[in-house]
Amino acid sequence: MFRAKITGISGYVPEYILNNEELSTIVDTNDEWIVTRTGIKERRILKEGGTSVMCVKAIEELLAKTNTKPEEVDLVVVTTVTPDWPVPATANIICQKLGMTKAWGFDTQAACSGFIFTLEAVSKMVESGKYKKAILVGADKMSSITNYTDRNTCILFGDGAGAIMLEPTTDMEYGVIDCQCYMDGSGIENLNVKRGRSEYPLTKDTIDLNEQYIYQDGKKVFVKAVKGMADVVEEVMKRNHLSSENLNWLVPHQANKRIIDATADRAGLSEDKVMLNIQKFGNTTNATIPLCLWDYEKKLKKGDNLILCAFGAGYTWGAVYVKWGI
Ligand code: COA
Repeated sequence: MFRAKITGISGYVPEYILNNEELSTIVDTNDEWIVTRTGIKERRILKEGGTSVMCVKAIEELLAKTNTKPEEVDLVVVTTVTPDWPVPATANIICQKLGMTKAWGFDTQAACSGFIFTLEAVSKMVESGKYKKAILVGADKMSSITNYTDRNTCILFGDGAGAIMLEPTTDMEYGVIDCQCYMDGSGIENLNVKRGRSEYPLTKDTIDLNEQYIYQDGKKVFVKAVKGMADVVEEVMKRNHLSSENLNWLVPHQANKRIIDATADRAGLSEDKVMLNIQKFGNTTNATIPLCLWDYEKKLKKGDNLILCAFGAGYTWGAVYVKWGI
């Protein structure tokens, strides 16, 4: 019997900062509205290259921190809604760029819940004992599917990548302990990319309508996100006898500070137990959770109880219980 233990964490955000003031010169918005409604002050934008550029930077740091040679890695899984190419997989490109000659891997897509869903899948693979060094990277270049004339969405998103190393351990105390994921398809019309897909390939007309970009009915998604995240966190906490006292950290997907606050309130958690970086990175979709872990790494202590949780398009939602073991 093995447990999948997180043995390393890393992250990368591009240098370029797009702050609310600059955004206000592009669309009809302002810093006060964005901060009050979302908690976001600025976001990072990757100026050149695709999502794999950020994945490679994050994984380089991860390999150095965990003292791992590229050829020791046996599994690389990328969760993203903005792959470098539709075909082939971004994992393939990363393996080639980093010289991971013994690894195999693939990409997954579960919108903003991708990191949670894929952590469940990869940890099960690691628990089998077959994979000794597995990398999960959550990354998105959201600027590539963001319409900077649409103030409903362009204020929200940013670019970034976060990675973790997972290794099997016989010490059952630390690692990925429990997970609950859901999806129901009820929100497909409310958060999506309408065109440039198998049913409706891109045409000149759809490009003129900006339908290759992300669309969101924010109000509808907001209501579902608050309930979905809070419910699933409560479910996983109850099942694992976690309370506001013995839970050390909530690591929520960073879509809107008001959704995060509502989830923390339902769990009875004070602000100092909630990881937050939405103010500086915005919603980086698949990267928010590992970027939070990376940001708060110095504050994490061995034995801390963490609940990671997310809500995203589809709808998709889920929570993972991790006992920190580094
Ligand atoms: N700047 C200034 N004003 C804006 C604005 C902007 N960027 N966007 C909208 N407004 C205006 C609207 O026109 C509206 O004005 P009106 O009352 O005169 O009609 C008002 O502000 C309220 O707009 P609304 O869309 O109701 O705002 P909101 O409080 O719902 O916030 C979101 C919008 C997108 C921030 C919020 O709905 C949200 O975060 N949704 C969920 C996101 C999420 O969880 N996604 C899933 C995971 S990715």
